[in-house]
Amino acid sequence: MSKRSSRITVPEFIGLKAAGRKIAMLTAYDYPTAAVLDTAGIDAILVGDSMSMVVQGHETTLPVTLDEMIYHAEMVGRAVEHALVIVDLPFPTNHLGVHSAIESAGRILKQTRCQAVKLEGGADQADVIAGLVAAGIPVMAHVGLRPQSVHQMGGYRVQRDAQRLLADARAAQEAGAFAVVLECIPNQTAAEITAALKIPTIGIGAGAQCDGQVLVTHDLLGFTSGYVPKFVKQYADLKSVISGAVAQYRQDVQEGRFPGPQQ
Ligand code: KIV
Repeated sequence: MSKRSSRITVPEFIGLKAAGRKIAMLTAYDYPTAAVLDTAGIDAILVGDSMSMVVQGHETTLPVTLDEMIYHAEMVGRAVEHALVIVDLPFPTNHLGVHSAIESAGRILKQTRCQAVKLEGGADQADVIAGLVAAGIPVMAHVGLRPQSVHQMGGYRVQRDAQRLLADARAAQEAGAFAVVLECIPNQTAAEITAALKIPTIGIGAGAQCDGQVLVTHDLLGFTSGYVPKFVKQYADLKSVISGAVAQYRQDVQEGRFPGPQQ
């Protein structure tokens, strides 16, 4: 018997641009978070390599491995019923040749119930995007600030070469990418790229004219210990909520109020 999924498909995701419906995307790295985002109606969930910084506590996204991405993507894949689920190809999996990229992305699709991969790059990755797409693997490209190239870019800086950014986004579309993330680029450039492409643009620090937006969920919820970029809107202060609850519990235990008669 086949199990039917009611998840948003890649063609439906692309169709949101033509329909003029903005796309809401967030990151998740585990089952309960993914389940909450999915129930709240988020269109797409990214198992981002930001996990390396946000969950694993590294300084950059470089250390996270393919096996670790798959381990977490399995959790997310099990939780999601409605959203499109995309998994980042971790550094340097998409730089080892087309065959190797298909092997890595193939493992992700076979093992995790996720539907697509994201890779950092535009024109420089066109052959890899085309190879993955030819293998039936949907690809979201990522241009602008590419955190996996942080050392080469000299830090997490706004990327301002409008011509190059447009060329990268066009090359990704021509190679068959179904969407492109635009990270940390001027609003005007993001608006021009969005108007020039048929596929959706998903912005992060790229202004309001993109077809959709993505944020790291921990940033949005106020559950990070590190630096929070200024393009983030913090919708909750989970860190304070959790630390208040934990301090209350500690006091209750130490002063003999927990467990009480009801427990
Ligand atoms: O890894 C990630 O979370 C990302 C998004 C911030 C776009 O690439």
